[in-house]
Amino acid sequence: MNELEDRFGRRFSYLRLSLTEACNYRCSYCLPDGYDGPSRGFLTRPEIGRVLRAFVDLGMTKLRLTGGEPSLRRDLIEIIDDAANLDGIRKIAMTTNGVVLERKVSAWRDAGLTALNVSLDSLDPDRFAAVTGFDHHTSLLRGIDQALTLGFDSVKLNAVLLRGVNDDELDGWLDYVRVRALSMRFIELMRTGDNADYFAAHHLPASTVAAQLLARGWTRVARAPDAGPAIEYAHPDYRGKIGLIAPYAPNFCASCNRLRVTARGDLRLCLFGEFGVPLRGLLQDDADGETLRARIAQQLGLKAAGHDLHRGNPGMTPHLASVGG
Ligand code: 5AD
Ligand code: SF4
Repeated sequence: MNELEDRFGRRFSYLRLSLTEACNYRCSYCLPDGYDGPSRGFLTRPEIGRVLRAFVDLGMTKLRLTGGEPSLRRDLIEIIDDAANLDGIRKIAMTTNGVVLERKVSAWRDAGLTALNVSLDSLDPDRFAAVTGFDHHTSLLRGIDQALTLGFDSVKLNAVLLRGVNDDELDGWLDYVRVRALSMRFIELMRTGDNADYFAAHHLPASTVAAQLLARGWTRVARAPDAGPAIEYAHPDYRGKIGLIAPYAPNFCASCNRLRVTARGDLRLCLFGEFGVPLRGLLQDDADGETLRARIAQQLGLKAAGHDLHRGNPGMTPHLASVGG
């Protein structure tokens, strides 16, 4: 049996590891004033090596590197390489804002990255700059096209669906995925501790996009057993797919198969959970491996059945840069 299993029968073979809290973007729903926290103090490469070893020993097969912006780590290539050399990890994914995508994507692939998620909230350069505070849309699009030539298992794009900002772009996206074998996903805006006003102004249910897709002849793809939270739609005339991620939908948590470790080494059972379990004290010495595994396994029993988003409780998460999106 996989030891990474909780009392609801969900299996946790998927770890999301944040490499840094820092980010250079200023996404209006996340870090509108930019990141102003510490730029150091995050898990070191040896600490990351130990945490990954423990999770692999407990049955983790899929890793996602997140942040903040993981590509701000100077040792990112080495970290990918270390992970790729652990027996048992079958998939190494990373979520990036794409700031160095064009320059680095092929080196990431060579180091062993197998899947890539790039945040791209708009296909329009001006809108993109307005949301992120960053004007490098053209390079980002070139980086994505390059990624598509590198043999990744999957390339996915994430756009946070924002009322009045990018909610009129579906047809542009459909054109984009007509010839590109990638999965574009709309993520419903989530309310976090810091973005209540923005949420009230811009939240839009993903079901509005579902209705438009169905009207255009797109149909729902059957969900694979180990698939993530996206509900995917496909169309025979298009190479790419469109996915919807709707965290406020009923039963969203029922399919949750993920655990998180923050950039400071706290195990988080849920993005919106109320507590983190410090692992860092056990990451200083290989000799603590057994205690570390026991601490992780024990916490799984506590993973709650669902988060509290419906009651408007954003938990302890001020913004997603703090725990990894
Ligand atoms: N709601 C929904 N998505 C968010 N992201 C960051 N903050 C939020 C939020 N409040 C997205 C990013 C990125 C992914 C990791 O999470 O845009 O695509
Ligand atoms: Fe944007 Fe992600 Fe950076 Fe937040 S962490 S500002 S969502 S790129």
